Amino acid sequence: MCGIVAYLGKKPAQPILIEGLKRLEYRGYDSAGVGLMNNGVIKITKSSGRISVLEELLEPINQAEVLGIGHTRWATHGEPNTINAHPHLDYTGKIAVVHNGIIENYSTLKTWLISEGCKFSSQTDTEVISNLIGYLYAGHNEKGTPTTGQNRFEWAVQRALNELVGTYGLAIVCADFPDMLIGAKKGSPLILGLGENEYIIASDASAIVEHTTQAIYMADNEMVICTSKGFHTKTIDNVEIRKDLKQIEFSLDAIELNGFQHYMLKEICEQPKALNMCLGGRLDHRDGRIVLGGLDKYWREITRAKRIIINACGTAWHAGLVGEFLLENLARINTETEYASEFRYRNPIIDDGTVVIAVSQSGETADTLAAVEQAKERGAIVLGIVNVVGSTIARTTDAGVYLRVGPEIGVASTKAFTAQVAVLAMLAIELGRRKHLGHDVAKFYIDELAKIPAKIEKVLTQSEQIKEIAAATCERENWLFLGRGFNYPVALEGALKLKEISYIHAEGLPAAEMKHGPIALINKGMPAVFIATKCSQYEKIIGNIEEVRARGGRTIVVATEGDENIGKYADFLITVPPAPEELQPLLTVVPLQILAYHAAVLRGHDVDKPRNLAKSVTVE
Ligand code: F6R
Repeated sequence: MCGIVAYLGKKPAQPILIEGLKRLEYRGYDSAGVGLMNNGVIKITKSSGRISVLEELLEPINQAEVLGIGHTRWATHGEPNTINAHPHLDYTGKIAVVHNGIIENYSTLKTWLISEGCKFSSQTDTEVISNLIGYLYAGHNEKGTPTTGQNRFEWAVQRALNELVGTYGLAIVCADFPDMLIGAKKGSPLILGLGENEYIIASDASAIVEHTTQAIYMADNEMVICTSKGFHTKTIDNVEIRKDLKQIEFSLDAIELNGFQHYMLKEICEQPKALNMCLGGRLDHRDGRIVLGGLDKYWREITRAKRIIINACGTAWHAGLVGEFLLENLARINTETEYASEFRYRNPIIDDGTVVIAVSQSGETADTLAAVEQAKERGAIVLGIVNVVGSTIARTTDAGVYLRVGPEIGVASTKAFTAQVAVLAMLAIELGRRKHLGHDVAKFYIDELAKIPAKIEKVLTQSEQIKEIAAATCERENWLFLGRGFNYPVALEGALKLKEISYIHAEGLPAAEMKHGPIALINKGMPAVFIATKCSQYEKIIGNIEEVRARGGRTIVVATEGDENIGKYADFLITVPPAPEELQPLLTVVPLQILAYHAAVLRGHDVDKPRNLAKSVTVE
C-alpha cells in the first residue's frame, strides 16, 4: 500500500522517480507526487489519479535536480485528491516527506502542533510527520538539542520518529541540505539501493533493480542518512549500526510486461515456469522425499506437531485452506486455517505441540505479520511460506520456504496461489513420509507434483475458449462458484478473482451448502461455476449441478479431460488434465483465473489496477 521512491545521486532525479513510481504503482494508484530539490527550494508537483496524470504536470527535466522524493498513494486518511497526495511539506516549507504506513497518534500530535502554531493543509496523517520534523528543526525542541557535531536535520527526524506511534516507510528531505536524503522504517518495507555514486530508497526492489542490484533491507526502528559523501545507518535511538549488503535476486526482465497486455495475464501464463522454479531441486524422485532446506532445523518439531495453525489473508488464505486439507489428509496432523486479522485479536490456544505457518506472497501483510508476532510471543514455532525474499514476515519467522516464483505485480494474485499450494503440498508429503505414508505413496505424490507444470500448460491453451465463455456470461452481476473437498477453496478463490477485477458479485461455497440458503439466489441464467473434476465426491457434485440447472442457472463446469458423462450437465465446459484429487487445485484454479481475467477486460476494467485495491496490504 503506497509506494515511495527517493533518489540522491549525480543524475537528474525526475525520470528516475517517475520510472520508479510506475514500477510501484501496483501498490496504490489513487494519487501521486514528486518533490525535487532545486537550488535550496523543494519543488512539489502532485495530482490525483495515476502517475501518467502527474507526468503531464511536470516541468521539463532539470539536470541540476539530483535529489528528489516520490509517492504513489493508496488513501487511508483523507480522500485521494491533490492536497492529500504526497510529498507533504511542513509549515515552514523546508521539510518534505513521503510516507507509506499509518500514524496512529496523528490526531493527538496534530492538535498539539496546531496549538503550537503549525499550519496544516491536508487531512492526512503524514502531514504531522513533516510538521513535527519542521517544528523540531525550527528550534522548538523542548527536549534537548542535537549532540555536538550532529546534523540538525538528522536530529530533528530522529527526535520526531520517537514520537510517532504506528507504521512508516519514509523518505525525507530538507531544503537546507540539498545533498542529504533520509529514510526510516517501522512496520512498512524500505530498501536502500546502492548504485555508483547514487542512492535509491524505495518501498520495494522493483523500483531499484534497474539501477543497481546491491541493496540494504532496512529493519524496524532504523534510519539511513545518505549524502554525496556516503551513508550511515542507525537506530532511531541514535545507535550506529552496520547493515549487510544483499543482492536483489530478480532481473529487470522479471518485472517487465514482455509483450503481455497485463501483468495478471503474464503471471497466469507464467505458472508452468513459476511452478518449475518453485519445485526445482525440491523433489527427490529416487528417494521419495522432499528437500526443503529452510526447514532443516525444524523437521523434528514439525513432525511431532499436534496441531498446525495456518495464518493468512485473501488468496493466501485460500491456499492455506488447501494446505489444511493436504496436511490433514497426507500428514494426518490436525490443521486449522485462520484469517490472520481475526487470529491476532483472539486469545488463541498455542501450546507446546502447536506449529504456526504464515502464508504470504508479499511477506508484508500487516495482519499476517501481527499474527506471526502474536504466535511467537506465545512460544510457537512459526514458519513462513513467503514469496518476497527478505520481506518482514520472512525475517520474522523462525524458518520457512520461499515460493521462488519471482515478483508478482498483478494486484490479483495468481502464480503466488499455485506456488503456495505447491509448497504446502510438498510440506504435507514430506511430513506424511516422515510419519506414516511410506516411500511408494510419497513417491507417487512427488511424481504427480512434478507433472503439474506441463498440465497447467495444457489448461492455458484453452484461453480463447474461456474468453468466449466470459463474453457470453460477463454481463451478469451475480455469480456462484461451487466446489467440494479439495476444490472448495478453489471455488472461493475463483469467486474472489472475479470480484476483485471485474466487480461482479460472486460467492464461493462448498457445493453442498447451497441447499442451506444460497440456492434461493439462483434465477434464470445466473452463472454458476462448478468444479466437478473426477474425485471422491464426483457423483455428489453432479447432484449439485442438477439442482442449479433445475432452477434455471447456467452452468460453467470445470471437469476432467476425457469425462464423457459431464457434457450434458454443462452449458459451458472447460477441462483440466487428470490428477490426484489432493493436487487438483493446482489445475482447477487456472481456468478460473483466466475466466476472471477475460470477464474484467471485456467489462472494460484496468485489470492490473482494480478499483480500491492495492497489492501488499501493509495497513490493518
Ligand atoms: C487477491 C489478493 C489478496 C492477497 C492478500 C494477502 O488476489 O492478492 O487477497 O492474497 O492481500 O496478501 P499476501 O499474500 O501478500 O500476504
